[in-house]
Amino acid sequence: MRTVFLILFVLFGLGACNVPQKDKGTSGMKSGLMSEQWRPQIHFTPKAQWMNDPNGMVYHDGEYHLFYQYHPNSNVWGPMHWGHAISEDLIHWEHLPIGLYPDSLGTIFSGSAVADVDNTSGFGKNGKTPLVAVYTNHSHEKESEGRIDYQTQSIAYSLDNGRTWTKYEKNPVLDNPGIRDFRDPKVRWHEPTQKWIMTLAVKDRVSFYSSPDLKEWTFESSFAQDEEHNGVVECPDLFPLNYNGQEKWVLFISLNPGFLHGGSGTKYYIGEFDGKEFIPDDPNAPTHWFDYGKDNYAGVTWSNIPEEDGRTLFIGWMSNWQYATVVPTEQWRSAMTLPRSLELVEGAGGKPVLKGEVVNTIENIAGDWQEKSDLPVAAAEAGTLEFSFEEDAAYQLSLEFDIQMDATATIDLYNEAGDSIFITLDKNRELVVFDRIDSGETTFNENFPGKYDAPVAFEGPVKVDLYVDQSSVEMFINGGKVQMTNLVFPETLLTGVEIYGSGDSQLITAKARVLNSIWK
Ligand code: FRU
Repeated sequence: MRTVFLILFVLFGLGACNVPQKDKGTSGMKSGLMSEQWRPQIHFTPKAQWMNDPNGMVYHDGEYHLFYQYHPNSNVWGPMHWGHAISEDLIHWEHLPIGLYPDSLGTIFSGSAVADVDNTSGFGKNGKTPLVAVYTNHSHEKESEGRIDYQTQSIAYSLDNGRTWTKYEKNPVLDNPGIRDFRDPKVRWHEPTQKWIMTLAVKDRVSFYSSPDLKEWTFESSFAQDEEHNGVVECPDLFPLNYNGQEKWVLFISLNPGFLHGGSGTKYYIGEFDGKEFIPDDPNAPTHWFDYGKDNYAGVTWSNIPEEDGRTLFIGWMSNWQYATVVPTEQWRSAMTLPRSLELVEGAGGKPVLKGEVVNTIENIAGDWQEKSDLPVAAAEAGTLEFSFEEDAAYQLSLEFDIQMDATATIDLYNEAGDSIFITLDKNRELVVFDRIDSGETTFNENFPGKYDAPVAFEGPVKVDLYVDQSSVEMFINGGKVQMTNLVFPETLLTGVEIYGSGDSQLITAKARVLNSIWK
């Protein structure tokens, strides 16, 4: 038996856009900078050209800085710069001029930034706290000479809140020991040892270095992964989180390739860190994937979030190296995920699990909830509901299900062009499956269309939050214990919602609200 809970979303102003478009990218019905077809309306994108990893994220003087891997002259990867944007709420972004340009040591690969509040580097002047960026120089010159020591770590500082940067004259601060993949330094202050700790991606492992002043670095140890894989480690991060009143350390490792669903993805370990070595609590634990969707890579956390704030804030690159350079946008390529706040909470079997939730400042762009409480909850009472929005930007859908044994519930997001994604909760298999096979434009790469699953603990009602933008769907289950980020390229926003179940499944509540464009 199929139970249908039909929920119709009517997004005023979108009707005229439901005509199939021949021209993809910058031209077409929706045009104009920041409102082109597929342009994310609630996610950060550069105005133009290619972007990959988030870099140099630091909070300072009321501003969240976001730098990013940027190629200003092309919409595919090339000589890397650090693009720059700032935000006061992590939701609205202001584009700023490029922060770091390539130099004689190479192009500027991924890295981090810190506010050196004690002026350990000596870069501070007149009591002004220096922001210090620690990044990889990639020498394409050395690479083309056939050498393998072309990646080194360098630093630069800013005394004007990240607006201009001075590169340290003694760069590089960490030379290459003869290893081809030696990059992506993520630096944080380690209070107990009073040292800076650099977590670095070194081929198939992570190495830790320490420094008193961000200039002299000493090797401490390496942490190798438990499993064999062919890919390289990239963009690691190491940060503490509280778990049941105890401090735990989380080690992020981005892997390319090697992700569960193919291509690039991020996993994490939970353990102890003493300023020298990282020891995982359970070396035999199954792989923890941070996000089970195909499109959340190279994400790391912000530095210098004030103690009284206390949050651990994350942003990731919303793409996958399998197809990032060929996604069907022309004016710009790639977006960041929504910023997320991370916590360690109890997961299945009483084991800690890293949960990620969209930052609460999402409220700044949210309309009122439209809530349906008198839903047909019994299988026999299927009915039709209607939500209505006045904006065409993006929306959040929040659903709560009660799913019994042998039952499933499916959420179908669709548009009038016939594009659909299907999200199925399956209690027997303890899974959620995200299917983007018929989601619109999928032919640009064979690795794009597919069905991707994630394990779900069905303990009581299941809450599903969806953030649906012009070219992405981010899903958070049970408050973010399961995260899934997937790109989609439908003809128009997937504003239709149909929910159906098999067996004894009930929809307890359904709420929806518009998320207004951050660019208007
Ligand atoms: C990860 C990555 C990093 C590197 C950067 C280059 O996506 O490959 O390892 O620093 O991108 O743009």
